[in-house]
Amino acid sequence: MDVLSGTTMNFELTEEQLAVQAAARDFAQNVLKPGVIERDREQRFPADEIRQLGELGFLGMMVSPEYGGGGMDTVSYVLAMEEISKVDASCSVVMSVNNSLVCWGLETFGNEEQKRKYLVPLAKGERIGAFCLSEPEAGSDATSQRTTAVDMGDHYLLNGTKNWITNGGTASTYLVMAQTDVAKGHKGINCLIVEKGMPGFTVGAKEDKLGIRGSDTHTLMFQDVKVPKANRIGEDGFGFKFAMKTLSGGRIGIAAQALGIASGAYELALAYSKERSAFGKPIHQHQAIAFKLADMATEIEAARLLCLKAAWLKDTHGNYEIAGSMAKLFASEVAMRTTVEAVQVHGGYGYVKEYHVERLMRDAKITQIYEGTSEVQRIVIGRSVIG
Ligand code: CAA
Repeated sequence: MDVLSGTTMNFELTEEQLAVQAAARDFAQNVLKPGVIERDREQRFPADEIRQLGELGFLGMMVSPEYGGGGMDTVSYVLAMEEISKVDASCSVVMSVNNSLVCWGLETFGNEEQKRKYLVPLAKGERIGAFCLSEPEAGSDATSQRTTAVDMGDHYLLNGTKNWITNGGTASTYLVMAQTDVAKGHKGINCLIVEKGMPGFTVGAKEDKLGIRGSDTHTLMFQDVKVPKANRIGEDGFGFKFAMKTLSGGRIGIAAQALGIASGAYELALAYSKERSAFGKPIHQHQAIAFKLADMATEIEAARLLCLKAAWLKDTHGNYEIAGSMAKLFASEVAMRTTVEAVQVHGGYGYVKEYHVERLMRDAKITQIYEGTSEVQRIVIGRSVIG
């Protein structure tokens, strides 16, 4: 299917979607903004803010109400992610992983018992989830898992290390990809639900990161962890496909995060350009600045359309894999370009913390790396367009 074609074209948002967008904007501006600079400086996890996001239903937005979720569509999720990310990408990455990797993965592929036990508290925001695929030697090359899950009859014995795990310290429920049969390659990988507190599971040091410093990124160690067979998601060997399918949807969330970082930086640059005068007039009246703002606005609109198209395809059961990769590739590059230019528009003020744009510039970089680097997105898109 040509991802650029669709059956209907309607750019109007529904009343419900607009209400979700307004609620997210209100929360971001009134609750997240006041402490965001301090949390970034201190690398402090937004625990209270995440609790409130959960109470508002933003951590299990797309999960069916039957399992404690909001029953919303992916378009609403993209709108909310953009608003939260305009202000605090450390908060929106928690939201993104919980919604699109952990909750979606469990709801789509988990069995009834797993959904009742694990999905319900995650969807209600009572617990936080983590998605554990990356390893010291398996980032983009996700098949090369070294973590092993040896079949012991009624349980798996889990051994290995996972790296750069978002929510690594604060999560209670971990979806861990591990190799059960190396000879079978990607068909020998399983996804196991691991609980914090299982003997042999330890959370390692927290990463000291360039951006999204309020988020909680850790190394995880598993040493002879006994994971019941009942905690395997899907059939034996389904783990790699589980990860790929889940990441295809997850990339729409990260694309929306990148979009939000870009639009947040653009709004700050636009407002500043009206306040600041140089050479006798507000700087937006200088063509050098006006052209930057025009380019930012155009690129952001294009990124937004790609994000919403991918979300709409997911909602209408279309093929959203390529559209999600295109949205993530483009939006993350727009986030980088826009935030660098927003710092430039601010001049010296842009280089100091209190004006927010330097943080957005640091936060933007991760969107080109996690849930598949820009290079991985090009592989996915390239395979599709080249055939
Ligand atoms: N949906 C369904 N199935 C898929 C799929 C998808 N999107 N992508 C691949 N598959 C299937 C293929 O059909 C194939 O199945 P068969 O053998 O039955 O035909 C199988 O999976 C293997 O596929 P490939 O041969 O294409 O696999 P590959 O090894 O060449 O990998 C890749 C391709 C796209 C580079 C993949 O490894 C990849 O996406 N890597 C990046 C991983 C990633 O995104 N990591 C992020 C970590 S999580 C994270 O960042 C979370 C966070 O902290 C915020």
